[in-house]
Amino acid sequence: MTMEDGSGTTGAAPPEGVVLGEALEILRHLPDACVDLVYIDPPFGTGQERRLASIRTGSGEGVRRGFGGRLYRWEVASVHAYRDDMPMEEYLAFLYQRLREAHRVLRPTGSLYLHLDFHAAHHARLLLDEIFGCERFLNEIIWAYDYGGRPRDRWPRKHDNILWYAKGPTWTFERDAVDRIPYMAPSLVGREKAARGKLPNDVWWMTIVPTNSRERTGYPTQKPERLLERIIAASSRPGDFVLDFFAGSGTTGVVARRLGRRYLLVDSNPEAVAIARRRLAEPVERGLPLG
Ligand SMILES: C[S@@+](CC[C@H](N)C(=O)[O-])C[C@H]1O[C@@H](n2cnc3c(N)ncnc32)[C@H](O)[C@@H]1O
Repeated sequence: MTMEDGSGTTGAAPPEGVVLGEALEILRHLPDACVDLVYIDPPFGTGQERRLASIRTGSGEGVRRGFGGRLYRWEVASVHAYRDDMPMEEYLAFLYQRLREAHRVLRPTGSLYLHLDFHAAHHARLLLDEIFGCERFLNEIIWAYDYGGRPRDRWPRKHDNILWYAKGPTWTFERDAVDRIPYMAPSLVGREKAARGKLPNDVWWMTIVPTNSRERTGYPTQKPERLLERIIAASSRPGDFVLDFFAGSGTTGVVARRLGRRYLLVDSNPEAVAIARRRLAEPVERGLPLG
């Protein structure tokens, strides 16, 4: 089976769905130039295991003091974890090999979003400059949120870094498909513009997945659907092929499917694959998730 990529070359179609496997091994089986958009949110190079325990209240041996001083019982309902404990040099070599493959499988008009944080974003930018060429750098998106602890000795680190690179000199940017945000000073732009809102710039203020939200799966470092919605809506078109080979709980696939894109998700953790498959077995919800 072949498909046109709109630029004169053709590539065989990649498989679709959710695959349990090691990213590099799966990537090596994909044909050249078959993917329109890669979004990856790999382990960040934190040097630690990433673990999230969900608790169930009302039963169990644990006791906690809650609102109004009331005591309630709790127990651990599930624990999900994945490893992120490679030494930095090994981690960067690991990332480099997989980024090279990502570049190979992208179509000439495709692009890649690499989601990291302060641990490795500065190193990764140099890797991507080498693989894609520094002239193919498009943006460093700052995803700013406000959650978690606040150290007393420095500014709280409350953003992730998302590096966006194009494979070739032209790429997809569907600016009219992107959600709009309020102007900071609406009185300066007139009523009509203020009502329409503005195109976001490269700093995106969005909440993390709230503990009590419908989309919460209990998988550590799950990303919000709204974040993926903006990326996929802007950088692909209906029918395009989206690849995420560090897929975790499957957020990329859930949003890709909702927006009418094809997708391939890969993760080496059976727990992640089970969660992603469960999410994708649910009926498609049309419309935007709440911000
Ligand atoms: C940050 S999480 C992804 C979270 C995801 N974006 C979500 O919204 O749930 C990184 C994922 O990479 C997976 N992973 C780590 N090393 C991998 C490898 N070599 N091949 C495939 N998946 C891997 C982990 O199991 C983990 O699920």
